[in-house]
Amino acid sequence: MRPPNGESPKVLEVDRLSVHYATDRGAVIAANDVSFFLREGEILGLVGESGCGKTTVAMAILRMVQSPGKIVSGQVRINGRDIVSLSEQQLRQIRWCELALIPQGAMNSLNPVTKIKEQIGDAITAHESMDPTALRRRILDLLDDVGLPERVYNMYPHELSGGMKQRVCIAMAIALNPQVIIADEPTSALDVVVQRVVAQTLLDVTSRLGVSMLMIGHDMGLQAQMVDRVAVMYAGNLVEVAPVDAIFDRPCHPYTRLLIESIPSIEERKPLRVTEGLTHDLRNPPPGCIFQYRCRDCDAECRSERPQLIEVAEDHYVACLASQEKAT
Ligand SMILES: Nc1ncnc2c1ncn2[C@@H]1O[C@H](COP(=O)(O)OP(=O)(O)O)[C@@H](O)[C@H]1O
Ligand SMILES: [Mg+2]
Repeated sequence: MRPPNGESPKVLEVDRLSVHYATDRGAVIAANDVSFFLREGEILGLVGESGCGKTTVAMAILRMVQSPGKIVSGQVRINGRDIVSLSEQQLRQIRWCELALIPQGAMNSLNPVTKIKEQIGDAITAHESMDPTALRRRILDLLDDVGLPERVYNMYPHELSGGMKQRVCIAMAIALNPQVIIADEPTSALDVVVQRVVAQTLLDVTSRLGVSMLMIGHDMGLQAQMVDRVAVMYAGNLVEVAPVDAIFDRPCHPYTRLLIESIPSIEERKPLRVTEGLTHDLRNPPPGCIFQYRCRDCDAECRSERPQLIEVAEDHYVACLASQEKAT
């Protein structure tokens, strides 16, 4: 199915999505005017430091943002239909069947007193009726798809390693043949060695099924080896979106460059880059560019004008006034 190209249809489109959390001291702007799309069969990585709004975007796409969070504006379209305006009933049909989530920390949310066969079985029968023999076959096939032995069928989560539990979560996500999977830091809680194997399973399975995936992570190095395009997020805003080669060969946004420079390398021992300045309080974004406090190239214009995400080269979008000027 892969590789997708610029001609592949867009299965998921996020359009100017904003999500706020109401607090006593004002609204936390966790996602601000976020726009991106996912093509059929493609893997898009969403990266950025902890607290920048990645999980918020994932939850908003499924309309599962928890109170006091609220989608304040924007659209999320799957196959052209806007999820934000659907009824709960219509949403239930879309979740899992068209759009599945592997939530952050998924493996720890498996029910400890329920066998794996029941957990996967419940996910299936909540949407599809199936006779017990067909259901058993389907669950065993799913376990096989994610590289788990048959005996896992009758086991409890506590009998499995972290990597095996995460595979169960992948099996649940693909159980109803969704078109899109949103995987929120699917390997972050695992040991480094297991991380790669589980990530590879996720890639193999989605590629075989032709599923598109939004893969959330904070590790730019790991993402580089897995995704087709990268979307970089900073303080609730997308700052750069581009094919993975372009992101690494020609990063435009200073924050993207910083993320790349901070990937450790064995060949080249380099001093760790210290980043000066702090991220602003998400309740009080400054006028102008959101990265201004940490940017070495910030000028007066950057402090007054908020850059929009603009296409500066084919399929390469950036929200930085200096980079946009250079490109024109
Ligand atoms: N329930 C909440 N109330 C207030 N602020 C929240 C709540 N949940 C998340 N936030 C804030 O929203 C921002 C984005 O959080 P999150 O989406 O979890 O980021 P990430 O997944 O990138 O680590 C953070 O600054 C966080 O503090
Ligand atoms: Mg998160």
